[in-house]
Amino acid sequence: MPLIMKSTEVVWHHATVSRNRRNQQNNHKSIVLWFTGLSGSGKSTLAHAVEEELHQMGCRTFVLDGDNIRHGLNSDLSFSDEDRKENIRRVGEISKLFIEAGVIVLAAFISPFREGRRKVRSMIPHSDFLEIYVDCPIEVCEARDVKGFYQKARSGEISEFTGISSTYEAPEAQELTLNTSKESLSEAIAKIMELLNNRGILTRP
Ligand code: ADX
Repeated sequence: MPLIMKSTEVVWHHATVSRNRRNQQNNHKSIVLWFTGLSGSGKSTLAHAVEEELHQMGCRTFVLDGDNIRHGLNSDLSFSDEDRKENIRRVGEISKLFIEAGVIVLAAFISPFREGRRKVRSMIPHSDFLEIYVDCPIEVCEARDVKGFYQKARSGEISEFTGISSTYEAPEAQELTLNTSKESLSEAIAKIMELLNNRGILTRP
């Protein structure tokens, strides 16, 4: 894994158009909203619904979604623990670039390991990282089985499936928990918008 720079003959080039200038132009701050939870818990649904709300308010947004990123940039990665770690590390780096670009990033990844999520948090400047635990019992996710993956995981057709044959470590210091088996989508969206307002993200920096 390229965690250590292999070449030392590279020098950082500073931009004159800074994150701060972009944030001022956009009339909002850039931040990462990181949705973690089991497959089928509702991460992507929430991320896209919040993006819709923010877009209508005139905010610059982008959703990074596990299923989509694994079709392109991370198509070389499997679901082994090691590859999941690398998946999240790369997504952390992408999120960091989007933050610099002035964008509100909505990242929806199972991101099963506490340590991996902590590392992403630590690489984002000024702790502009809000972890949202999309908490939904596995029985409910399995009953939903939107993609049919739980059935395949039970039958052994899919191995290393989160919650069945692969670990999920629930957050311990998240900024927000949403229980998607109990609260409605609009209630959950309202809580996220409240969090953003309380943090002053949606006001001119
Ligand atoms: S992560 O664990 O590395 O963070 P990521 O969010 O990118 O996972 O991808 C999860 C999505 O991949 C799931 O929503 C599901 O659609 C699909 N998937 C396919 N195989 C697996 C598996 N073995 N475990 C979990 N998700 C899987």
